[in-house]
Amino acid sequence: MRTFSVLLIWACLALEADSMAFFRGLAKKESEGQRRSDGGGLRRSKRGWMWKQFFLQEEYTGTDYQYIGKLHSDMDREDGSVKYVLTGEGAGTIFVINENSGDLHATRSLDREEKAFYTLRAQALNRSTGLPLERDTEFIVKLHDINDNEPKFEKDVYTASVPERSNIGTSVTQVTAQDADDEMFGNSAKLVYSISQGHPYFSVEPHTGIIRTALGPADMDREQRDKYQVVIEAKDMAGQRGGLTGSTTVNIVLTDVNDNPPRFAESIYQFSVPELTNTGSVVGRIKAVDADIGRNAEMDYTVVGGDGLEVFDITTNRSTQEGVLTVRKPLDYERKKFYTLQIQVQNTHPDLRFMFPNPKDVATVRVSVEDVDEPPQFGRFSYVMEVKEDAAMGTTIGSVSAVDPDVKRKPVKYIIDRHTDVDHVFNIHEGKGSIYLQRPLDREETAWHNISVIASELDNPQQSSRASVYIRVTDINDNAPVLASFYEMFVCENTKEDQKIQTITAVDADEPISGHRFKFGLAAESTVNANFTVRDNGDNTAGIYTRRAGFGRLQKSTHLVAVVITDGELPFQSSTGTLTVRVCTCDRHGNMEMCNVEALSSAAGLSTGALIAILLCVIILLLIVVLFAALKRQKKKEPLIVSKEDVRDNVVSYNDEGGGEEDTQAFDIGALRHPEVIEESKQRRDIIPSESLYPPPPLRRTAVPTRDNADVRDFIDQRVLDNDSNPTAPPYDSLATYAYEGNGSVAESLSSLGSASSDGEQDYNYLSEWGPRFRKLADMYGGEDSDWDC
Ligand SMILES: *[C@@H]1O[C@H](CO)[C@@H](O)[C@H](O)[C@H]1NC(C)=O
Ligand SMILES: *[C@@H]1O[C@H](CO)[C@@H](O)[C@H](O)[C@H]1NC(C)=O
Ligand SMILES: *[C@@H]1O[C@H](CO)[C@@H](O)[C@H](O)[C@H]1NC(C)=O
Ligand SMILES: *[C@@H]1O[C@H](CO)[C@@H](O)[C@H](O)[C@H]1NC(C)=O
Repeated sequence: MRTFSVLLIWACLALEADSMAFFRGLAKKESEGQRRSDGGGLRRSKRGWMWKQFFLQEEYTGTDYQYIGKLHSDMDREDGSVKYVLTGEGAGTIFVINENSGDLHATRSLDREEKAFYTLRAQALNRSTGLPLERDTEFIVKLHDINDNEPKFEKDVYTASVPERSNIGTSVTQVTAQDADDEMFGNSAKLVYSISQGHPYFSVEPHTGIIRTALGPADMDREQRDKYQVVIEAKDMAGQRGGLTGSTTVNIVLTDVNDNPPRFAESIYQFSVPELTNTGSVVGRIKAVDADIGRNAEMDYTVVGGDGLEVFDITTNRSTQEGVLTVRKPLDYERKKFYTLQIQVQNTHPDLRFMFPNPKDVATVRVSVEDVDEPPQFGRFSYVMEVKEDAAMGTTIGSVSAVDPDVKRKPVKYIIDRHTDVDHVFNIHEGKGSIYLQRPLDREETAWHNISVIASELDNPQQSSRASVYIRVTDINDNAPVLASFYEMFVCENTKEDQKIQTITAVDADEPISGHRFKFGLAAESTVNANFTVRDNGDNTAGIYTRRAGFGRLQKSTHLVAVVITDGELPFQSSTGTLTVRVCTCDRHGNMEMCNVEALSSAAGLSTGALIAILLCVIILLLIVVLFAALKRQKKKEPLIVSKEDVRDNVVSYNDEGGGEEDTQAFDIGALRHPEVIEESKQRRDIIPSESLYPPPPLRRTAVPTRDNADVRDFIDQRVLDNDSNPTAPPYDSLATYAYEGNGSVAESLSSLGSASSDGEQDYNYLSEWGPRFRKLADMYGGEDSDWDC
């Protein structure tokens, strides 16, 4: 069994160069079988001791090659017959081997932080044969760390904040530094934090880098100082002398807490406000000072006392935190000239941890009311007065009064706003304010006079105010009652005695408070030889009754009955109304049958205008009847029109035989066809082709072949002429379609049966002609001698 052993020489470097020591070890012999059973196990990871490792100091500064170790095969009898060969990472460049002695060197300085180890393979060959003496073996060159990296903080500058007045030891933030050196080896990466700036406010935990407050709440006051710059250092080598350091800056801000109450800058504030200031207007602003900021400086103002407690309000302007003093109730200089208010201020969001000795502050606000020249003021906003409609000129109706509220009590002058009394019905005493009548009144014409009265200062008309005066004109009985309407009445010739022929009533323009009470009676001139009586019903109506039987129409055609109507108010007013009673012939039931001629015409009760209207109606009716008859006659000639609604579309009728399969006009076979063809057939039916405007559709089979059609032309000309001269033809343009077989047809009929044998379209000889004057109405003639229609 052949064995291969590698002599490992490894150097262990202490930190100081002079304390460098070399250790030598011998690699354990390994049998090939053992390695095989390891499955090519060159990494024996479970072993705590890495035998196949060479160690090399990083950052070597020497000028010659750095010696790493020696490879040796026990087949080597040191006679120069063995040749060592190196392969793997950096072989030949970074690492070189002496092929005779097996000495391994590094050609240049290496950085562990760049690459911590290199994996290489070595082999011993028979120099003369070039054959390997052993299987090649793998080994590792590991770089030995030196403290060549200083700690580095994650950020150059940290920012952090901590509430002011925090307890001692409150955590602010944590800073961490990293050291690139080997953490597993020595202290090169073992860091210790310390604070180099920021004493005595803050401290740092040496091993965690947590920054904490180092002073108590009393000393951490934002209002004193709110910004701190703290410098933290991290030192490796566990903080020992000779370690490398890195540092960072931490900007710490103290955040606000509500540790200050608002305070008024002054104890007394003074404002003045004109007396006529509207309610809600601002009188002034006061502001308390709060050392805190933001939400902690929000404050509420309240009026807590003083004689102006009810008169003023204070609110907080949230953007400025000012107390805004406003007027709540109207001010009157003449009544009260000064007000005193106690205004209190306190924080909106107090912090219960900071119980101030007095969280509220109170200030006094003095408000003086300034005098304003005010217009005179009426005792009332409006006045209601009454005056009898028959009041004499100059009668005083009532009076208004206004006083100047100012201290000086300036004299007042009254006038009537003439816009409200354009007719100068009223006037007012300039100095006294008494309103008197200047023109006669009529309640029946104007029942209310609503006027405006203006009171102004005598020497300053600008200072004025106005009041409404509602003058009601009260009724007096100055109108006589009259018949409520013109009564049309008649009496039958064969009437009996004491027959009621009419009920009458009356109207009166006056408006008595207790309502109307009319009395009816016969006038003196009608009582002699009276033929009628008037019976008062006691309810403002009366009945007219016959007094005798038998009135002769021919004897006396009309009777006049004079009725006296009296009202019930003092002074009594009465009038006489005359009723006309016609004598007429009646049937047994008392229905009027015949009166005298003048009676009839007037009985009809129609004016000439109405008669003319009726006459016109009759004429129009007659015309309609005539027109209807004419249309009806015409319609009889149109048996093919199925519906009147769309005459233009209905030039196609369906009760025909049809022209065969090509006769798309006769019935729609579109449903059986290609959509394109359907489209085409639609076009044919709906669009009126006009040669001048549209090119003829490609399949326009209705087009008349121009040759050999003299008889057709004649036929059309004749029809056009007929239509033009037809008195029953409609007065507008219409479309007339004719079916004409032509005289050259072989068949008697143009039915599809007859045409089946013919070989061309033209044989159909059917046509549709659009006469210039025939556009709208299809006038269709189904010829008796033709058995097809189109
Ligand atoms: C090298 O090979 C030669 C020829 O085969 C042999 O004589 C010699 O012993 C070998 N050397 C070693 C060290 O095996
Ligand atoms: C608060 O005061 C400011 C400045 O005087 C003003 O512009 C703003 O309109 C006020 N806000 C209110 C709600 O009155
Ligand atoms: C005048 O005032 C009275 C009472 O308010 C009212 O009834 C009447 O309609 C008014 N007349 C006119 C013309 O405004
Ligand atoms: C009553 O009728 C008679 C006869 O018709 C007539 O003569 C007489 O004048 C009438 N009386 C009055 C008051 O019209």
